[in-house]
Amino acid sequence: MATNRTFTMLKPDSIEKGNIGAILEKINASGFRIVAMKMTQMTIADAEAFYAVHNERPFFGELVEYMTRGPIVAAILEKDNAVEDFRALIGATNPADAAEGTIRKLYAASMGENAVHGSDSDENAQIESNFHFSGREQF
Ligand code: RTP
Ligand code: MG
Repeated sequence: MATNRTFTMLKPDSIEKGNIGAILEKINASGFRIVAMKMTQMTIADAEAFYAVHNERPFFGELVEYMTRGPIVAAILEKDNAVEDFRALIGATNPADAAEGTIRKLYAASMGENAVHGSDSDENAQIESNFHFSGREQF
């Protein structure tokens, strides 16, 4: 079922570099409404579960270390065609391949430290939103 919501995390490098405000500004300016948002820190078990689909990949250990080394900002975003439009706004996984003006082109350092997460399907947007927010924290 198509929905009008997606889920994002501003990853630890974005918080470390002081880029929360600039990234949220760009998200809002691109027509997304912030439905729910919080700053939190993932445990190792959280990150292993969130990225379980990648647990056989060679970069899995680095990914878990990166995602747990400091706070993240988790948010649920709303817009027509949210999942696809947000993936376009963040750009390619590797910032070297990301289009001009995308969040990863502007704010990501590398494939391993790429500033933001965006859900890749409506189904995963729902699963990932539920992972980080209880019903009481949503609107
Ligand atoms: P995300 O899930 O975080 O939005 O990123 P994505 O869909 O663009 O990329 P995905 O394939 O799901 O990979 C998840 C995250 O793992 C890290 N990664 N590192 N060193 C590497 O080769 C490598 N490949 C992936 C990145 O942080 C990527 O966002
Ligand atoms: Mg992904």
